[in-house]
Amino acid sequence: MKTILAIIASPRKLGNSEIMAKEISRCIETPHRLNLLRLSDFHIRPCTGCYQCLFKSKRCVLKDDLDLILDAMAAADALILAVPTYFLGANAELKVLLDRGLAFYGYAEKLWGKPAVGVAIAGIEGLEGYTPLVVESFLKMLLCDIKAVRVAYGALPGEIFVDSANKSIAAELGRALFAPAPAKNEPSCPLCGGQVFRFLGADRVKCMLCSNTGTLCIMENGRLVFEIQRGGHDLFLTQAEAVRHGQWLRQMKDRFLAQKSTLKKIAAAYRRGGTWIKPAPQPADTPDPAPDEP
Ligand SMILES: Cc1cc2nc3c(=O)[nH]c(=O)nc-3n(C[C@H](O)[C@H](O)[C@H](O)COP(=O)(O)O)c2cc1C
Repeated sequence: MKTILAIIASPRKLGNSEIMAKEISRCIETPHRLNLLRLSDFHIRPCTGCYQCLFKSKRCVLKDDLDLILDAMAAADALILAVPTYFLGANAELKVLLDRGLAFYGYAEKLWGKPAVGVAIAGIEGLEGYTPLVVESFLKMLLCDIKAVRVAYGALPGEIFVDSANKSIAAELGRALFAPAPAKNEPSCPLCGGQVFRFLGADRVKCMLCSNTGTLCIMENGRLVFEIQRGGHDLFLTQAEAVRHGQWLRQMKDRFLAQKSTLKKIAAAYRRGGTWIKPAPQPADTPDPAPDEP
C-alpha cells in the first residue's frame, strides 16, 4: 500500500485546496493511504540566510516544525500539492516553507524522484498570476518527479466543484501521479516541462523554471514549439546536477572567507544612513481571533 502526502497550503478548512487534493486522491487507482498536512498547523519560521544547514548536521538551526514536515514528505511515496492564489501568487505559507529549501538538501536522497502533482487554485479565471510557477518551483526544489501541474478556478469554499470541469482536472492529476511519463502540457519547456517563459527579444525566450534559454517557433499549423538549450547555471535536471549544485553552494563559504575583509569594508560604508522604524514590543503570544464562519 502506497502512502500519498497531500500538502495543503491554504489555511481554510474544507476550502478548495483541501477538497481538490482529496478529489485527486479519490481518482488515483493505485491503492493508497492519504496523509494530509495543512501548512498553517505548523510553526515554520522565515529563513535567516545563515547557510548552516548546508554544513555539518545538514539540518536547519531554527527551532520549529520544518523537520516534521520534511520527515512526512520523505516518508511518503508520492506528493499532492494544492496551493491557493493570493494576490497573483502562491500564498505566503508555501513561500515561507520554500525559502527554507536549502535544508531540503539534507533530505535529497529520500526526496529525489518522488512522483508529485500540483494544483494552483485561483478564485477568478485568468487571475492565477505566477502561482503555477511557484507550485512547479516548490516541487522542483523538493527534487520531485513532477508529473503534472494544473490550474483550477473556484472562489468560495466548495465552488471548485460546482461544475464538472475541475473534476476532470482532478482525474487527470490522479491518473498522472503514478503514470510512467509526465502528462503532456503543450506548450512547455522540452527540458523541464516548465510552462512560464520570459521574452528576451526577437524569438528568444527563457524558461522561468529551469532558467535555460532558446527560441520560440510558431509552426504552420499554429503550434508553438520551444527549442531550449542547456545553459551555464541552470536549475539541476538530474540527481548528479542537484548534488553538484549543493557543492557549489557550499564553496560559497570559501569564497566568502577569501573576500571577507573586502566585503566587510563595502558593507561598513553603509552602516550609517536612514532611521530604522521598529515595531512596539508585543505581549508574548497573543493568539489571533478565531475567523467567523463564511
Ligand atoms: C487574500 C486573498 C487574495 C486573493 N487573491 C487572488 C488573486 O490574486 N487571484 C485569484 O484568482 N484569486 C485570489 N483569491 C481567491 C482564492 O484564490 C480562492 O478563493 C481560492 O479558492 C482559495 O483557496 P482555498 O479555498 O483553498 O483557501 C484571493 C483570496 C484571498 C483570501
